[in-house]
Amino acid sequence: MSENVMLTGDRPTGKLHLGHYVGSIANRVRLQHAYQSFFIIADLHMLTTKNSRADIERSAGNARDMVLDMLAAGIEPETATFYLQSAIPEVGDLNTLFQNLVTVPRLERVPSLKDMARDSGKEEMPYGLLGYPVLQAADILCVKANAVPVGKDNAAHVEVTREIARRFNHLYGDTFPVPELIHADVPTLVGTDGQAKMSKSIGNTVLLSDDATSVRRKVMGMYTDPDRVRADIPGKVDGNPVFIYHDAFNDDKAQVEDLKERYRTGRVGDVEVKEKLATALNRFLDPMRERRAKYADEPGLVDRLIVEGTERTREVVRQTVFDARKAMGLTSTFQAIRRKAQAATKSR
Ligand code: TRP
Repeated sequence: MSENVMLTGDRPTGKLHLGHYVGSIANRVRLQHAYQSFFIIADLHMLTTKNSRADIERSAGNARDMVLDMLAAGIEPETATFYLQSAIPEVGDLNTLFQNLVTVPRLERVPSLKDMARDSGKEEMPYGLLGYPVLQAADILCVKANAVPVGKDNAAHVEVTREIARRFNHLYGDTFPVPELIHADVPTLVGTDGQAKMSKSIGNTVLLSDDATSVRRKVMGMYTDPDRVRADIPGKVDGNPVFIYHDAFNDDKAQVEDLKERYRTGRVGDVEVKEKLATALNRFLDPMRERRAKYADEPGLVDRLIVEGTERTREVVRQTVFDARKAMGLTSTFQAIRRKAQAATKSR
């Protein structure tokens, strides 16, 4: 495949939010026509931290929500390929081959894994969670992707993928591209609580699917400058969550500059800053709401996209696994034994 291929995606643990948007979805939308685009629903990765029957039962509904969120965000159903990771068992074949191309200490140094283990209340690191970046390398390389738009917490995983691709090519001959990480232009988005990154498990999110009233309610409850107890006290703009959101989502830049200026000099109240932010966010989300309504109106669209996309992707993955096994000489191992078996049968 000489064409440009992009692959990225999410675990099916819930609806997508503004943090996903700035970290990865904005780039997905922007690049979708420059690349052949694959979007993984990574339900096997979900199992590394959430593997109860209830978690698994919820994943189909979550997968549908995620795909609809992406369509609403502007991903075009005619050109995108959505697929369900667990429905392509050949990804596991590649994972097995890749496990020998990376060391345990290397994986132990991936910072996001320790965070995930801690956040999911694990006392000890599960083997599968340690292997999370290796499985992700299998995802990325199974379609020979050369571009991976992801947020900061996935950057180290893409680095592991690059190392595995290089190592494979070095040992067995050029087989895989060394994929590029596509960065977000906004750093990790803080949550509405101003305390930590926006994250479903913390409950500090604004969802792409939130209605205008919920957006307004969440914004009015946002944290601002804690030292500013009255509107006539000069406030801090840098690092202030409401201004981070204004910068990221308000397309009226003159309004943002005016608010910042008045905030710094104690001439605007938090309420006005928040009301203007709610209006700007709703203006940003309105086109998504329109597209969502249109796509949600087509019965079976999302399910059909996942099924057809998974079947298409599976063909590509089968070919890639064959290429990898051939490059390694594994196909000839069995062929040689079979030839001997056949020769022996004939000479009997
Ligand atoms: N690790 C991603 C997440 O944080 C999900 C994922 C799995 C992924 N495989 C991928 C992202 C391949 C990009 C490419 O949810």
